[in-house]
Amino acid sequence: KESKAEVVPAPSEAAAKLKISIYFATWWALNVIFNIYNKKVLNAFPYPWLTSTLSLACGSAMMLFSWATRLVEAPNTDEDFWKALFPVAVAHTIGHVAATVSMSKVAVSFTHIIKSAEPAFSVLVSRFILGESFPMPVYLSLLPIIGGCGLAAATELNFNMIGFMGAMISNLAFVFRNIFSKRGMKGKSVSGMNYYACLSIMSLVILTPFAIAMEGPQMWAAGWQTALKEVGPNVLWWIAAQSVFYHLYNQVSYMSLDQISPLTFSIGNTMKRISVIVSSIIIFRTPVRPVNALGAAIAIFGTFLYSQVILVSFDFLFVVTKMNFCFC
Ligand code: 3PG
Repeated sequence: KESKAEVVPAPSEAAAKLKISIYFATWWALNVIFNIYNKKVLNAFPYPWLTSTLSLACGSAMMLFSWATRLVEAPNTDEDFWKALFPVAVAHTIGHVAATVSMSKVAVSFTHIIKSAEPAFSVLVSRFILGESFPMPVYLSLLPIIGGCGLAAATELNFNMIGFMGAMISNLAFVFRNIFSKRGMKGKSVSGMNYYACLSIMSLVILTPFAIAMEGPQMWAAGWQTALKEVGPNVLWWIAAQSVFYHLYNQVSYMSLDQISPLTFSIGNTMKRISVIVSSIIIFRTPVRPVNALGAAIAIFGTFLYSQVILVSFDFLFVVTKMNFCFC
């Protein structure tokens, strides 16, 4: 029998692990920076529909430029590709704007604590909409996720219903986005980077009229004057930074999704939330009561438990092929 010490990964396996570790570290770092600038912008200029639109516009412009200058090879797409992308883009748009609205109303840490319940939404959607069933331990692992989020929400000092509902809607929308997008990425004709670029462009087209209807140029102009008076021209740089980092972190996450299973992706996403929660509490000096922190810790622990239970409960290939990549 081979002992553990004798199992030396082949160079290609070690290189693949290194590559994915770099992807993960980059993804989390970019996400932390995005969240910080996004919140700074929303504090000074509270127009989440516009800032969500600008994030998508910036990503679309960056990718159109990269394609035009052949920095990145443009994808070869057909009508079927764009048709299949449409439901993904609708879900991405809803999930993105709902999370941004949430963060405009509550602390970044609170939005991400609620967003750590995404696996629970994944299981519920798979069970009640896709008709998949899970072994009992999977359902049991949802209890700490739901209980922890409930405790964190009930004890949140600055609770706001729109902030809470925004994060919940974002969870639901992103579960659908992940199911549809992994299906769309099957066949590998379009890389993760280009797939996300096309997604940004389509989401931008969908979101723009809604942003104008929900907020509109008059509100933006008035808000801009106030932001300039209170913060100064720096707010423009913050908007640029949040937009660039929003695109970059999503692009890297889609490049990771290209390489790894949705389950590994899901674990990576939870780890990412821990970095965001901790760094935003420190940077924004968010007041946290012990019972509130306990709720967050239980919810995050529940997400890890869920990942472990899923791993034990299913043969990995079964998860990948039968569950349609719906764990995120
Ligand atoms: C967004 O604006 O789309 C959200 O902040 C995304 O959140 P997530 O990528 O961490 O789920």
